[in-house]
Amino acid sequence: MGLFQEGINEVIATTWLNAAPMGIIHRDGTYRMVLFRGSHTAINVERWGWVVANVVHDPVLFVRTAFSDLPDSAYVEEQVEGFLVHRLPEVEAWIAFDAAVEHRARESMTISLSPMKEVTVTPLVHPVNRGYNSIIEAAVHGTRWLWNHDPALKALIDHHRAIVQRCGGPREMEALALLEGYLNPVKGPAT
Ligand SMILES: Cc1cc2nc3c(=O)[nH]c(=O)nc-3n(C[C@H](O)[C@H](O)[C@H](O)COP(=O)(O)O)c2cc1C
Repeated sequence: MGLFQEGINEVIATTWLNAAPMGIIHRDGTYRMVLFRGSHTAINVERWGWVVANVVHDPVLFVRTAFSDLPDSAYVEEQVEGFLVHRLPEVEAWIAFDAAVEHRARESMTISLSPMKEVTVTPLVHPVNRGYNSIIEAAVHGTRWLWNHDPALKALIDHHRAIVQRCGGPREMEALALLEGYLNPVKGPAT
């Protein structure tokens, strides 16, 4: 075990037939998540007691899973320590965690995580691309902007859009078009 860096590791978290980007907080040897209550991830973690952290580097998948659902056929089943868990198929690595609610606040829950199984599938080299990083940032701000339409978040999204347009490759451009569709549903997602 020990794939994750100290700090917050952005992954696609899978729970029962559900996927969403989430941060796994790794500090002082511990693993945690802070989940906004009401998300499918929060409901499933509370109900089933496990989560899989899928390590992927695909901007389109981050955007798609942040704003919509994947079909049931998108998941692979694994048996881990008595749990039947769901993970994503095309990942560089995955870690299955036993998950327990540690603290409940009004809007969020802190989940304490214990690694059960870690598998590295295909580790790839990722030269830093600011366009990729900005897609992740814009997606984080976008999920929050959809809740509150805060103009400050809109300004941050605009800032990151410009970086994606300057530094991104085709996959980042595709993710940006998808993101714009989710943020402006009149036009609909550009799938
Ligand atoms: C990179 C990234 C990281 C995120 N991290 C978290 C997180 O740590 N906790 C959380 O509650 N939401 C987080 N979100 C927002 C959720 O992904 C978003 O609310 C999603 O719609 C939840 O989907 P679900 O209802 O299928 O669980 C993050 C979004 C992105 C793009």
